[in-house]
Amino acid sequence: MSVRVDRADGVATVTIDRPDALNALDVETLSALRERLGELRDDREARVIVLTGEGDRAFAAGADIKYMSGLGPIQAKEWGELGHTVGQLLETSPAPTMAAINGFALGGGCELALACDLRYASRTAKLGQPEINLGIIPGWGGTQRLARVCGLGVAKELILTGRTVDADEALRLGLVDAVYEPDELVDRAFETARALAAKSPLALRAAKVALNHALQGDHVDNLGREADQFAQLFATEDAKEGLAAFVEKREPGFRGV
Ligand code: CAA
Repeated sequence: MSVRVDRADGVATVTIDRPDALNALDVETLSALRERLGELRDDREARVIVLTGEGDRAFAAGADIKYMSGLGPIQAKEWGELGHTVGQLLETSPAPTMAAINGFALGGGCELALACDLRYASRTAKLGQPEINLGIIPGWGGTQRLARVCGLGVAKELILTGRTVDADEALRLGLVDAVYEPDELVDRAFETARALAAKSPLALRAAKVALNHALQGDHVDNLGREADQFAQLFATEDAKEGLAAFVEKREPGFRGV
């Protein structure tokens, strides 16, 4: 099995499991990722999704170059679309998504991490979009999401040079949100994931929808969407519970209704 799903405490951990190829994504692995993420989309028990790679060397070293070396433009278009579907499943998943980057996150690996809501990296991680060195460009959303996450200048510099960055530089660039020692990464990612799993899934979902519109479309329309979502949350039990718990000086218990 090339993709594993483990569940604990409301957190679904999705592991790309192809360590012999540094978790490079071939058709089987990327298709399995699409299937598993599609299932998790409808799974109310999965309150947070953590994406990571098997082993201690790689999150994912990119799309499978051996496979891509035999593609023509029509197959490459389909391949790109499959990667885009997976990226969009992560980006629009109702549950928050977090990449625990435990090593190389290159090319398509970096692009999948960029589609997640949060990115935590191990101090030994290396990230980048080296596609230019293969005579191609990022094809799973990298030209767009890297610019959104780090700014257009940083995206152009990294994509045009194809250079990789270490975890500390990635943190300085805003490409990752936090860096931990390799043996701490999973625990720290889980700590945050469990904290998110205890929040209202309805509020998290509304926040994601509003945030995902922040850098696109019409600003005033987006403010209108935020106002609508803000108002609609006041019809939920979770909002009543959260506001009452503060007033009553106790911890809230959110049920997702
Ligand atoms: N595709 C296929 N196989 C890969 C791979 C990839 N992206 N990355 C690593 N592997 C395989 C290697 O071929 C090797 O397999 P074999 O033992 O069968 O030869 C195995 O993983 C271990 O890799 P290395 O021996 O190369 O390990 P290393 O420590 O010497 O180097 C590395 C590590 C710097 C990550 C190097 O493997 C590398 O440069 N990999 C390619 C990274 C890359 O260019 N990624 C972008 C791909 S293009 C893309 O993703 C397009 C897109 O936008 C969708």
